[in-house]
Amino acid sequence: MGWKGILGFDYGIVQGPLGPDISGPELVAAVANGGGIGLLRAPDWESPDYLRELIRKTRSLTDKPFGVGVVLAFPHEENIKAILDEKVAVLQVCWGEFPGELVLKAHQAGVKVVHQVGSFEAAKKAIHAGVDALIVQGLEAGGHVLGQDGLMALLPRVVDLVGGRDIPVIASGGIVDERGYVAALALGAQGICLGTRFLATEESYAHPVYKRKLIELDETGYTNIFGRARWPGAPQRVLKTHFFNDRGHLPEHENEVDQPVIGRTTIHCMEREIRLFAGTVPNVTTTGDIESMAMYAGQGVGLIKEIIPAAQVVKRLVEGAQLLIKQKFLAETV
Ligand SMILES: Cc1cc2nc3c(=O)[nH]c(=O)nc-3n(C[C@H](O)[C@H](O)[C@H](O)COP(=O)(O)O)c2cc1C
Repeated sequence: MGWKGILGFDYGIVQGPLGPDISGPELVAAVANGGGIGLLRAPDWESPDYLRELIRKTRSLTDKPFGVGVVLAFPHEENIKAILDEKVAVLQVCWGEFPGELVLKAHQAGVKVVHQVGSFEAAKKAIHAGVDALIVQGLEAGGHVLGQDGLMALLPRVVDLVGGRDIPVIASGGIVDERGYVAALALGAQGICLGTRFLATEESYAHPVYKRKLIELDETGYTNIFGRARWPGAPQRVLKTHFFNDRGHLPEHENEVDQPVIGRTTIHCMEREIRLFAGTVPNVTTTGDIESMAMYAGQGVGLIKEIIPAAQVVKRLVEGAQLLIKQKFLAETV
């Protein structure tokens, strides 16, 4: 059945890499210990030694396999080398092409490659490159949104495209509980990837105010006002906070560079200023006007009512899906 493991993991439940510096060793180890696929997030700059440290710290917290996510839009060659040297179980990539030669290199190092895509065309290229699994991200997703299609329409198309190949398809975007999980299975997925649900866990590095907003607020907006200079052409789905509703407008020719500094943060041990309209979501180290900062979240956020341990998220999804299938579907067919 679909809730069984994929890629050698106990379960087909992926914790999406959460940048910048939100999915650290504690979250990833907690997901791994719960039987899911936890993903660290590599820095957006070359920092192989630091990345090795992150991987080793995670290994000190779990004996289970885990992976690292790399955003291909930023410098990453040395980071990927470190990931392959460390032989983590999974290299997750997104926002760019990852050619067959690099997939082969990863395979030679014993590392599986999972590509997160947001369109049919991108899925085609990733399959051609020989990836081990595909994460299909729908427009519902929190954070930076790759494509324009909703998951309901895009996912089965990609499942059909994969056909008989041994490439698990993992659904991503708006999934929070067992209902979303079972729906994804019905659409042909073998696994699910959740970002927002894992953001709202005890172990995530999201700032306490950000976590509180994930519980309090139910609506999200698709926008491009945050982080335009640093990462152009990468729209985001964010929480509709007071700031977003009242002051979340920025003329197309403006960006965060000329805006006032509203706070400070540490991302992967580097201190940074945060300007108004920066794409930097608040992590535990962030100080300043937290409420005016970007807060990424997916459309399922209205279903999140409590901050719980990450392993509980995995357990509830697995047990809930099994029960739901048994009660709602199997009972009617016998
Ligand atoms: C705070 C936040 C940060 C994210 N950062 C990344 C990232 O660095 N790399 C990546 O591939 N996806 C990232 N994502 C997207 C997730 O991988 C995933 O596609 C998305 O969270 C799924 O939608 P959901 O949030 O509704 O579960 C991020 C999502 C959030 C909410």
